[in-house]
Amino acid sequence: MSTPDLLVTGAGGQLGQRVLHHLTDSLKIPAGRIAAATRKPESLAAWAAQGVALRRADFDEPASLEQAFAGISRLLLISTDALDRPGHRLAQHRAAIAAAAKAGVSHVVYTSMPKPETSAVLFAPDHAGTEAALAASALPEWTVLRNNWYFENLFFSLPSALGSGSWYSAAGEGRIAHIGRDDLARAAAAALAGAVTGKSTLTLTGAKAYSTAEIAALVTKTVGRPLAVVPVPVEGLVQGMIAHGLPEGLARTFASFDTNTAQGGLADITGDYRALTGSEPQGFEDWLAANKAVLAAL
Ligand SMILES: NC(=O)c1ccc[n+]([C@@H]2O[C@H](COP(=O)([O-])OP(=O)(O)OC[C@H]3O[C@@H](n4cnc5c(N)ncnc54)[C@H](OP(=O)(O)O)[C@@H]3O)[C@@H](O)[C@H]2O)c1
Repeated sequence: MSTPDLLVTGAGGQLGQRVLHHLTDSLKIPAGRIAAATRKPESLAAWAAQGVALRRADFDEPASLEQAFAGISRLLLISTDALDRPGHRLAQHRAAIAAAAKAGVSHVVYTSMPKPETSAVLFAPDHAGTEAALAASALPEWTVLRNNWYFENLFFSLPSALGSGSWYSAAGEGRIAHIGRDDLARAAAAALAGAVTGKSTLTLTGAKAYSTAEIAALVTKTVGRPLAVVPVPVEGLVQGMIAHGLPEGLARTFASFDTNTAQGGLADITGDYRALTGSEPQGFEDWLAANKAVLAAL
C-alpha cells in the first residue's frame, strides 16, 4: 500500500471530481498515491472505497491545513468559489500556499484566470494576488494554470437569454476562447501528476475564440430557437440584474465579465493545453452537440 504523494484540494467540487477521474482513469495513477482534500470528506466515500485517501481541509481554518498536506509532494490548489467576497479568496489561497510550503510540498499547481493582473473582472485581483503569493513563497516549484472560461458558464447566461429570445450583452465584439471544464480537469491532472517541473505559467484555452453574436448563432443552430444579442451598456446590465433580484455586488461582478471580454481579456488562443496534455481540447461546436438536450431544455 503506497502513501499519497499527490493531493487535490477542493476535491468535492465539479472540477476536483473530474481531476480525480483523470488521475485514476486517464493517467492510471494508483489510487493509493492520491489524497482528496475537501471540507466534506464524508461526501467522497466512493473515492475512499477505491483507495483514495480523504483529508479534511478548509482554507478558512489555516491551522488544519499543514496536517492535511503532510507527506504530499505535489498539490493542486483549486481556487475557491467565494466570488461575492473580494479579497477573501486571496486570504484563503495565501493560507493554503503557506501551509503547503510549511508541510514541505515541492510543487503547487494553481487554477487561475487569463491575464489576472490587467483583467477588468472584479475578482481578478484575488487570482493576481495568489500568483504573486506563489512567486514570493518558499515553494521550490509551482505551476499557474490560467484557465479560460468554461463552456459550462453558458448554463448561467443562456436560461434567461433563451427564455426571452434576447441576450443582453455589454461584451461588444469581444471574443472568448472558452474551453470545457473536463478538459481543464484533464490538464490539471496532467500538471499535478508531473507533466510540468520548475516554475511556469500556462494559459489554457479552447482552439477558437467566439464573439457573443457567434455564440448566439451557434446556440440557435443547436436548439432551433431564435436568440438575438441586444447590446447594452455595462451599467444597464448591472441594473437589469439587480431588477431581477441579484444582489448588487454579484451583479457588478457578473457585469465585469462583459467589460473584460469587450477589452479582449479572454480572446487569446494558446497551444499550452496541447503541450500539457498531448491532445486537442474539445471544440465549442462539439460541446454544443454533446449538450444539445440540456440546452434545448433551458
Ligand atoms: N474558468 C471558469 O470558467 C470558472 C468557472 C467557475 C469557477 N471557476 C473557478 O474554478 C474553481 C473550480 O470550479 P468548479 O467548477 O469545480 O466550481 P465548484 O463546483 O463551485 O467548486 C467550488 C470549489 O471551491 C472549493 N472551496 C470552497 N470553499 C473552500 C474552502 N473554504 N476551502 C477549500 N476549498 C474551498 C470547493 O471545495 P470542497 O467543496 O471540496 O471543499 C470546490 O472545489 C471554482 O472554485 C472557481 O474558483 C472557474
